Amino acid sequence: MAPGNEMLECGSGSAKVSAHFRRQGYKCTMLDYSEAGLNAGRARFAAAGLAGRFVVGDVNALGFQASRFDIVYSGGMLEFFSDIRKPIVEMVRVLRPGGVFAATMVPRKWSIQTLADLEIAVIRSGKRLLTGRIGEAWQMVRSVPNHYGVNSAKLREYVRACEDAGLVSVHGLGISPFPSLALPASGQIAYVRALKRWRPAWNRFDRSQSRWTEWVGSGYRVYGVKAR
Ligand SMILES: C[S@@+](CC[C@H](N)C(=O)[O-])C[C@H]1O[C@@H](n2cnc3c(N)ncnc32)[C@H](O)[C@@H]1O
Repeated sequence: MAPGNEMLECGSGSAKVSAHFRRQGYKCTMLDYSEAGLNAGRARFAAAGLAGRFVVGDVNALGFQASRFDIVYSGGMLEFFSDIRKPIVEMVRVLRPGGVFAATMVPRKWSIQTLADLEIAVIRSGKRLLTGRIGEAWQMVRSVPNHYGVNSAKLREYVRACEDAGLVSVHGLGISPFPSLALPASGQIAYVRALKRWRPAWNRFDRSQSRWTEWVGSGYRVYGVKAR
């Protein structure tokens, strides 16, 4: 892949990843079925003075000709589909042979984030307990982890769906060893600073092929190349 290549991000929302690629010189198309999501991306691009194309559309029926893009990416989207095959087939259709597909997901499973969610729920429920809202507090802790409609697809199912859609050299990895936390402002700043220091360890974790990273990590990543 090289600057000047065409990238499509599906379910782009705030388009953070596309903005990164645009800065490297890629031509970016952002697709989302939510106008509000696209507006968040437009705002990010406008604030950074970046050019990009924003398209309203459904990833299950993309209005692009086959083999149109060099890179197709989606982040935080596939986990919301009960049938992951359909959107993957469609994204691979618009990818050129030799092009790269990548997706990240936040799956429904135990992970390091589950502990963090518990921490967040305990803090929030504590506030309710102090004001006598015991039922609400209990409900809050009980609902951890709350997966908000996320499917239960396993990493190997994503890998299989990618292979069946026509990708080769498909890899599936567990990623994101450090959870999102709800800390007081000073703690949050210190945590973000620490995360920056721990970035090399984080990168090593994300690139590891071992089974335990799939188990502990709070995300999945799959990537592969479209067969020529
Ligand atoms: C959790 S957000 C992720 C946004 C962004 N990729 C990110 O990582 O911050 C999921 C996005 O997928 C979009 N989406 C969900 N189903 C879609 C579909 N069928 N077609 C296109 N976009 C979809 C939603 O509107 C939303 O913007």
